[in-house]
Amino acid sequence: MRNKVSIIGAGMTGSTTAHWLADKEIADLVLVDIVEGMPQGKALDLQEALPVVGKDVRITGSNEFEATAGSDIIVITAGLARKPGMSRDDLLSANADIVRNATQETIRYSPNAIFIVLTNPLDVMAYLTLKVAGVPSNRVVGQAGVLDSARMRAFVSLELGISVENIHCYVLGGHGDEMVPLTRASNVAGIPLDEMLPAERLEAIVERTRKGGGEIVSLLKTGSAYYAPAAAIAQMVDAILKDRHMILPAAAYLNGEYGLKDIFFGVPTQLGRDGVEKIHEYSLNNEEMAALQKSAAGVAENIAKLKL
Ligand code: APR
Repeated sequence: MRNKVSIIGAGMTGSTTAHWLADKEIADLVLVDIVEGMPQGKALDLQEALPVVGKDVRITGSNEFEATAGSDIIVITAGLARKPGMSRDDLLSANADIVRNATQETIRYSPNAIFIVLTNPLDVMAYLTLKVAGVPSNRVVGQAGVLDSARMRAFVSLELGISVENIHCYVLGGHGDEMVPLTRASNVAGIPLDEMLPAERLEAIVERTRKGGGEIVSLLKTGSAYYAPAAAIAQMVDAILKDRHMILPAAAYLNGEYGLKDIFFGVPTQLGRDGVEKIHEYSLNNEEMAALQKSAAGVAENIAKLKL
């Protein structure tokens, strides 16, 4: 029997995630959205593309959560996206209601599923999902670090004219402008990044990475990024379904790691069939630790607003 992945929210990110996943041919897919006909139409369109690219998976769209029954993974992208001038935090109360509902409805039909949360503000929405689903913390993970790190990798690759595959960057912390690009651990084919780039270029790349989401929002004007966020989700789904034990930066529930407790936060997570198998810890210097604490304080403040 094939794996089943359900994507809640068939908007830009949800449907693009389905696109990347269909191409990986690793699961049957279900798209759920509140807009009538839209998830059905997108699913059918994608299904009709598969003979061209030679992939055999079943893709269905629905307005009913029942269609998600028996999913191995639930991806939550439902919610509002940012408009120019908005921060991710501005989305909090509207998206909390949507994510709460999506979690309650999907856990009923897929009690063993692993949740990947994308809706912003991401770290807070992942926390909400965990509490509402009432599942062990290894079964909820938030997508942010893969995207933030990919942005940094893309900028370094463009700057140096070296393949993205040689470039390894790690971004920790909350998915906001206080995120912590870990330049000390980043490298190009093993050569430390600060030996490949002058300090001011590196600083500019770090800054552009922090503001990477906002850069896209101000260009698009009507929504936020979706190709790269969706590709990041697809990589996480792949790591989980194939039980790859792959270490990816992602938002995980912390219980003392990095000196933080009862919070979702971007850290190196090891992903496999059980979801978050392990959280790996860098030995951070004082400066990095201080940046991490600052980012965590912002996330904790927003979690408190949920009044759970
Ligand atoms: N149940 C199911 N789907 C819903 C619900 C709900 N209760 N409420 C809204 N949606 C759907 C909308 O109908 C829409 O199709 O969620 C979809 C969101 O899609 P887009 O508006 O295209 O937004 P997108 O760019 O995909 O971003 C979604 O991901 O990156 C984050 O900040 C972003 O929080 C935002 C989310």
